[in-house]
Amino acid sequence: ADPSPLQDFCVADLDSSLFINGFPCKNPDNVSSQDFFANGFQQSPGEFNIFDVNVTRQDVHRFPGLNTLGLSMNRVVLKPGGLNAPHVHPRAAELALVMDGKLFVGFVTTGNVFYWKIVTSGELFVIPPGLVHFQLNIGHENARFFASFNSQNPGIQFAPLALFNSTPSIPDLVLSKAFQVNQSIIELIKSRFATVS
Ligand code: GLV
Ligand code: MN
Repeated sequence: ADPSPLQDFCVADLDSSLFINGFPCKNPDNVSSQDFFANGFQQSPGEFNIFDVNVTRQDVHRFPGLNTLGLSMNRVVLKPGGLNAPHVHPRAAELALVMDGKLFVGFVTTGNVFYWKIVTSGELFVIPPGLVHFQLNIGHENARFFASFNSQNPGIQFAPLALFNSTPSIPDLVLSKAFQVNQSIIELIKSRFATVS
């Protein structure tokens, strides 16, 4: 859901000290074929997070040719039992293609209706913009999917980390009231994320 481009392309100058909506364009004289290709998905996934998931992002920060084009893509690899924890993309819808494995995929609407399906290789799923969603690997092998976004910078905000691992921390009083439990339970949950940065 990014604004439309006003020119053929505007390869991001990631080092510019101008702060605008998006990135300033690299001088077209210095643009080369290389700017329109990215090989991040050729590398095997590096570290898996505490949820046993690796997300390789190809957004404008890693692929400057995407600047102003309103598109980007992620590769998500989940170990068996791995959960791409409930999260939102504040600036994009997500359209994903499952490559390997068996995933329990769902999202929740603003009216708190839960839509879900178990999907396997070759299936697509779509997540409307800004809604809370997750993917859980319910198979015995690694699962892998590619997700495309209608933003060069969709953003990703994980609900558990936003609430229980922010800097500085949200006061226990707030979370205790929000979740209707006593503060010791909030402290316990926060402690689980102590090593996450
Ligand atoms: C999956 O939902 C992703 O956002 O990469
Ligand atoms: Mn997502």
